This record gives sequence, C-alpha cells and structure tokens, in this order.
Amino acid sequence: MDATLIKTVNKLQDAFATVGVQNPVDLPQITVIGSQSSGKSSVLENIVGRDFLPRGTGIVTRRPLVLQLIHRPVAEGEVNGKAEDDKEEHDFKGDENAHEWGEFLHLPGQKFYDFHKIREEIAKDTELKTGKNAGISPQPINLRIFSPNVLTLTLVDLPGLTKVPVGDQPKNIETQIREMILKYINKPNSIILAVTAANTDLANSDGLKMAREVDPEGSRTIGVLTKIDLMDQGTDVVDILAGRIIPLRLGYVPVVNRGQRDIESKKSIKIALEAEKDFFENHTSYRSKAQYCGTAYLARRLNMVLMYHIRSTLPEIKAKIQAALAKYQLELGQLGDPLGDSSAHQANLVLSIITEFCTEFRTTIDGNSNELSS
Ligand code: GDP
Ligand code: NA
Ligand code: MG
Repeated sequence: MDATLIKTVNKLQDAFATVGVQNPVDLPQITVIGSQSSGKSSVLENIVGRDFLPRGTGIVTRRPLVLQLIHRPVAEGEVNGKAEDDKEEHDFKGDENAHEWGEFLHLPGQKFYDFHKIREEIAKDTELKTGKNAGISPQPINLRIFSPNVLTLTLVDLPGLTKVPVGDQPKNIETQIREMILKYINKPNSIILAVTAANTDLANSDGLKMAREVDPEGSRTIGVLTKIDLMDQGTDVVDILAGRIIPLRLGYVPVVNRGQRDIESKKSIKIALEAEKDFFENHTSYRSKAQYCGTAYLARRLNMVLMYHIRSTLPEIKAKIQAALAKYQLELGQLGDPLGDSSAHQANLVLSIITEFCTEFRTTIDGNSNELSS
C-alpha cells in the first residue's frame, strides 16, 4: 500500500481515536470472489505481503476469513508488541516481523508472531467447524493483524464458487456459497476483486458474473487475471486488458502468483514478487506495458480506488468532527469544569489535523488522478 496514503489516513484515525471516535473514514472492505482455485487466497496474500493463508488445489478456503489489518505504531522501548522486560518465548523469525502479529477472535489474548502458525490455526479452526471432508460454513474466522506497516482496513477471503458437491458438501452447495458471497459484496462500501484464471474463458467467469449482479456500473469491481504463466504458448490477455472482451470500468490487472509447486517448496513472497516482475518485463505480449501488470500495480490500483472513496466521504467526516467539537463546547459550557479544557483542546487539535488532512489528501489525489483516468 502507498506510504503517503497510509500515513495520512492513519494520522486521521489516530486523531479521532483520541476523542473516542473509531474508524471515522469507514474504509471500504475489500473482498475477493471467483471460482474455486482461481487464485483468490494467493492474490489476497500477495496484497498483504505476508504468508499466512491456506492455499492449494481443491476447496481449501471453506469459511469466510475476515481479515482486519490494524495500524499500530511502534511505541518507544517496545519489543514484539510488549514491554521490553516481558520476554516470552515465541517463534518469530527475523526482525522484520518484530512488530507485527495476528490475533484470532476465537483465541482472545493469544498473539501469533509466526505467520505460518496463523495459517495452521486457520486450517485447524476450519476443520473444527466444517470437518475434514470439504464441508463449508458461513461462520467467519475473524483475524486481526497488527502492524506499523498497514492501513487500517478489512479484507475478506471467501470460498470459491463451485457447482458440484463433493465430500460432506450439501446438495445446494452452489446456492450456499453464492449467499455467503452476496452477504459481503452487496455492501456498497465493498470493493470487489473479481478473480478469473487466465487459462479459463472470461465469458464463463463466475466472479465477474456475480460482481455484475451487485455492481452493474462496475464502479467498485476490479478484474484480476491470475495464472498468466499457465496460458498456452502464443495466447495472451492483451485483448481483455484493452477492454475488447468484457469491458470493466476499473479495468483488469494480470498477475502471476505462486504455483502449487512453489507452495510445496515454500517459495517466499519476496522471491515470487521478483519473479512476477521479471515475467511481465520479459514477456513479448506484456513488456511494453509491464508497469500496468502484476501485484505491485494491483496494490496501487486498489489504493487509488480507496483514495477516491475516501475523498467522497470527506464532507461527511468534516460534519462529524464539527459535531464532536460542538458537543465538547456544550459540555464544557455546562460543566464549567477546568478539566474540560483538555477535551476542548483535543477537539480543536483534531479539527486542525483534519483540515490539514483534507489539504494533504487533495494533493495526493490530484497527483494520482491522471493515472486512474488513463
Ligand atoms: P483459491 O481457491 O481461489 O483461493 O485459490 P488458491 O490461492 O488457493 O490457489 C489455487 C491453486 O492455484 C494453488 O495451487 C496455487 O498455487 C495455484 N495458483 C494460484 N494463482 C496462480 C498463478 O498465478 N500461477 C500459477 N502457476 N498457479 C497459481
Ligand atoms: Na483452492
Ligand atoms: Mg482460497
């Protein structure tokens, strides 16, 4: 995610938190949808930049995973999200994750510093609620990831659309999964990543079909084309990208995720992202537009959509802060309490931060608007 965006939005969220207002911006929820094994979990994992989601052939994701990324600045003198003298043993490897950890709603108070353990826990709790034999459940797994490097934002991973029941799946598996997905993508506040494997026919894309049902204008749907590396020699997605097959207002982004063999050999995200970049830069069909291909571009595109969304909510945010300020001034007047001064001071501080934020934000958006309209 874009560093400037993260900084400005987090500053705003923190300012509001000091006066007790949580998540004033109401950031959109990003949801991945598509056929089974089209690469949804892989795309989400690449966007977050950490290895933690169960992926693989067959129905691996069998319950919704609601993933809340929570921005948490590193406090001074702090190690691993705890005070320095609290030296509990854990498995985290390397300094880069020292201030990042996950917590599940169903395991309150337990911090996971090792992201592979997060994946094990997702698999374990999936089995607990759905059995081992391909069963599904609409009961979500709620995971929060705390990190200094993320934007406070919600991402949702969902089971894929499938038609024929296998194992313990109910006869109406298709309807059940559709209903599960609709619940998340119906919200006007959700951004849909409609994932389609490039080695399948776009016209049959379940993800695109469902996205069109809830977002006919295409104002919140981004097309993601996975498995570009698995396309037949001599074929490519250039016509799709150019909008000549099924046009999509916000366009398509082609990506290359890790294949099954890469999963088995535990190829790291970093190496995979480098390989993806090389792939597009050296491919005869894509090298002239490699800057519009790949996970890094998808993340930037997502950023722009987020920024537009936030801009459209700025008047509402301003109204909220003015109401908060008025409330503090009223309380202050009624109490005549000298302690009340600090509340009024805080409210004024928030107001000045938001004014600054709006200015910064417009600048950021204006700097990016050429790219989105191109
Ligand atoms: P989901 O079922 O839609 O969540 O898909 P997964 O992310 O679990 O991926 C399904 C399978 O496809 C896994 O074996 C992945 O390794 C593989 N896969 C996903 N994306 C790509 C890709 O871009 N290229 C290749 N070669 N394999 C991919
Ligand atoms: Na899968
Ligand atoms: Mg999945």
